[in-house]
Amino acid sequence: MTDNLFAGLTPAPADPILGVTEKFRADPRPQKVNLGVGVYLTEEGKTPLLDVVKEAEVALAQSNQPHGYIPINGLPGYCSAVQKMIFGADSEVVLSGRAVTVQTLGGTGALKVGMDLMHSVCGETRGVSSVPTWGNHNALLKLAGYEVGGYRYYDAANDDVDFDGMIEDLRALPPKTLVILHSCCHNPTGYDLTPEQWDEVIELCRKNNLTPFLDMAYQGFRDGLEEDAAAIHQFAKSGLDFLLSTSFSKSFNLYGERIGALTVVTQSAAEAAVVLTQIKSVIRANYSNPPSHGARIVERVLSDPTKYQQWLGELTQMRNRIRTMRKMLADEMARIGSKRDFSFVTRQNGMFSFTGLSPEQIDRLADEFGIYAVRNGRICICGLNTKNVEYVAKSIATVL
Ligand code: LMR
Repeated sequence: MTDNLFAGLTPAPADPILGVTEKFRADPRPQKVNLGVGVYLTEEGKTPLLDVVKEAEVALAQSNQPHGYIPINGLPGYCSAVQKMIFGADSEVVLSGRAVTVQTLGGTGALKVGMDLMHSVCGETRGVSSVPTWGNHNALLKLAGYEVGGYRYYDAANDDVDFDGMIEDLRALPPKTLVILHSCCHNPTGYDLTPEQWDEVIELCRKNNLTPFLDMAYQGFRDGLEEDAAAIHQFAKSGLDFLLSTSFSKSFNLYGERIGALTVVTQSAAEAAVVLTQIKSVIRANYSNPPSHGARIVERVLSDPTKYQQWLGELTQMRNRIRTMRKMLADEMARIGSKRDFSFVTRQNGMFSFTGLSPEQIDRLADEFGIYAVRNGRICICGLNTKNVEYVAKSIATVL
């Protein structure tokens, strides 16, 4: 008789974010609205295919390239273009060669490779993320073998960052703790640190020997591509070692291509070269090497000044539409006399708004109105459009 391997297994809970999409898809009501997953949608409720991506794909199709393996750390032209995009082509970090950038499976892949590097190779055992954070941060830390903790971040009473709480919690961490930070467009709250607050965090990391890992999944969705990198530039200037994950899922609408990057900033080009060898071992043991299509698209755009500008234009349009929808939601809530002032929505950054709605209120929105959001109260503003914003506002006001 053989032992039955899986008979005792209980089902895992649905993913708190992607599970929302599954429920939304199963809902037959035509007026349904998905405010769950963080994806950009057009006024028509569709994931756009950017013109700059379409053109790159046509050119790629015409180039008839075979589908060989690409290097473990990704396409060299892609990695170098991404690093220049992040720090600036003439920046000290790029010119000195003290950073290494590798292609990864989206931003999540970058987090996983970076966490494996710091745990399995560098021996760090404790990882912390903000409370609240993107749910997958803690799941990734746990799976990579870290003891997982959190630091205070959200000040519900004042609709802001609880900076004093954050500093107090970070100060209490043992040296060599991996600290996950959202470099802009904090997910889920939409509240970011000021440059002065970033300076304090940087000094604390230096003094207490903490390892900063910046997650940058929404670059370009706050004030602009370059503006949004301000915190990263502060870290670069500080001379600290740090890690950075980049995603092109949102900014290029290349969700399904799983295209991102991990950058590790070290003290010297020689150190970066050694780190690269270790990163390659981590990638090889995780998934061998990355796929090429998304990287080829992004490389084409980032390394051609005209296409780069065209992309920035398309990114600006997305950012502006989100801003417009934030204002429309806040205005509509005021117009219908909502019990709660919703003007905070216009002060939050990126795709999300942390509404303060309870899990029960979120459930009511889904059950009674077919409006889906994450149960921690996060709504994705990109799911709003001029046709559904009144319906959403009225429904939210009803469950308040
Ligand atoms: C989100 O937070 O909704 C996105 O980052 C998508 C995801 O993978 O969770």
